[in-house]
Amino acid sequence: MKLFLFRLILDMLAIGLLLAAFAYNWFGNAAHEIIGTLMFGLLISHNVFNRRWYGMVAKGWREPRSVFSKTITLCLLLMMVGLLATSVIISQTVFDFLSLRSTFTVRQIHALIAYLVLLIAALHVGLQWSMIMRVVGQALHVKTGTRIQTVALRGLACLIAVYGVHSLFVLDIGLKLRMETTFRFWDFEAAAIEFILRHTAIIVLCAMIAHYSLKLLSLHKRDRRSPRTTE
Ligand code: HEM
Repeated sequence: MKLFLFRLILDMLAIGLLLAAFAYNWFGNAAHEIIGTLMFGLLISHNVFNRRWYGMVAKGWREPRSVFSKTITLCLLLMMVGLLATSVIISQTVFDFLSLRSTFTVRQIHALIAYLVLLIAALHVGLQWSMIMRVVGQALHVKTGTRIQTVALRGLACLIAVYGVHSLFVLDIGLKLRMETTFRFWDFEAAAIEFILRHTAIIVLCAMIAHYSLKLLSLHKRDRRSPRTTE
């Protein structure tokens, strides 16, 4: 349990670094590259701790739940490799000694992949949500929520998700995914907290989508099984 919590803290740190990497214009290039490189360092430990997944990835492709979660995790793996590769190529500080040729297109692809990683990593968190809540609840000795608590927490999650949808527009995520250049820069002096809150809300939104999709897929599985169990 202690090891699991330690791993969870490392994972939360990785998400924090991922968010911080989006504040490129606030921290500047050198800090951005160091933050990003540290996040990749934490990702290596995440992969070592979860190495069993690689042994199981080829199995269970007939189960809708498993197809859903494995597809998301494989996409995340692919995007992370892409983000790392483009990072090394365009680096002006940490990997500058490699003297690789950075082009405008690679820099654009780097930013595109970064936003895809934000969305897919959030889906990935949503896949583990039930387990994370169970372990955190046990560690903090929180008793299973009453009906009112559950309804209140779900209501709060819905409000955050609505803010997340609004944030997708405010942060021009659609334009960024279409690699369209925007000349709107975030005013970090005036609204640094709002920047963090909006990115966090997008993470919550995507995590909820993955969490509830998994629940729906479980219902589908139960529905298919029920005729046999009532026989
Ligand atoms: C957590 C991982 C990372 C994320 C999410 C990320 C995200 C981004 C984003 C969104 C931009 C565009 C910034 C803007 O124009 O507003 C950017 C630019 C940049 N990133 Fe990263 N990055 C990551 C890691 C790295 C690493 C590890 C390096 C190099 C070691 C790096 C090097 C750069 C450089 C040089 C630019 C400027 C590109 C330009 O001149 O247009 N990034 N990054």
